[in-house]
Amino acid sequence: MPVFFQQQINESTRLGVWKIEETEEFFRRNVPLHRDVTHPKKRLQHLAGRFLLQYLFPDFPYDQIQIADTRKPYLAGERYQFSISHCGDYAAAIVSRTHRVGVDVEETKDRILRIKDKYLSAGEQKLFIPDPATPDVRLLTLLWSAKESVFKWYGAGEVDFRRDIRLSELDSTSNTLRCDFGKPGVALRLNYRLFDRLVLSWIV
Ligand SMILES: CC(C)(COP(=O)(O)OP(=O)(O)OC[C@H]1O[C@@H](n2cnc3c(N)ncnc32)[C@H](O)[C@@H]1OP(=O)(O)O)[C@@H](O)C(=O)NCCC(=O)NCCS
Repeated sequence: MPVFFQQQINESTRLGVWKIEETEEFFRRNVPLHRDVTHPKKRLQHLAGRFLLQYLFPDFPYDQIQIADTRKPYLAGERYQFSISHCGDYAAAIVSRTHRVGVDVEETKDRILRIKDKYLSAGEQKLFIPDPATPDVRLLTLLWSAKESVFKWYGAGEVDFRRDIRLSELDSTSNTLRCDFGKPGVALRLNYRLFDRLVLSWIV
């Protein structure tokens, strides 16, 4: 069952997560490789991410993909805006005809605890880690993923995760988080889904 999760976000925006069970040959038959990726597993992830673009929008023009100096891939004519993420056996992509987008997928791992000071401000730690003796690894992974999504949505690089991206108002009913992003000075609403050992976040 390769499609792990799929959502039509609005009439011009689609999101998909693929569980990679295919061989490299399967993807290579359908997708051109867009950069040199030496490590076989990373190459497979890269191909699966690209594969999703046409899976979501069959007329997605692979041949028009360019890579910016920041390493963000984009389409020269901006017929579509898109974002890709991969992690372990999963690849995620979001594609839109109209909106700027960002997506990130992460596996929950305890090592997130070691880097929390790098991406969370003191205020965020107070809000999201009320009892430091029992930090919630899944929540911390979600907060990291959310900031990565914002970074990709922004696309121009040079973002200080602690200072420029401030998260609050986690709403587990609507599966959203508020984000005050200092770079362009905007308030954003991030979306997320929590799976067994996987966290997905996106922004439109
Ligand atoms: C670029 C970055 C977001 C990629 O994230 P990652 O977790 O390593 O990898 P992911 O699988 O989620 O995403 C990789 C994809 O992001 C996309 N990407 C790469 N650079 C990008 C950029 N600058 N903007 C938007 N998207 C980008 C690409 O599509 C890439 O996949 P591909 O090369 O196969 O097409 C990450 O490496 C990064 O630089 N993050 C910012 C780190 C930072 O500033 N931290 C400071 C606080 S600790």
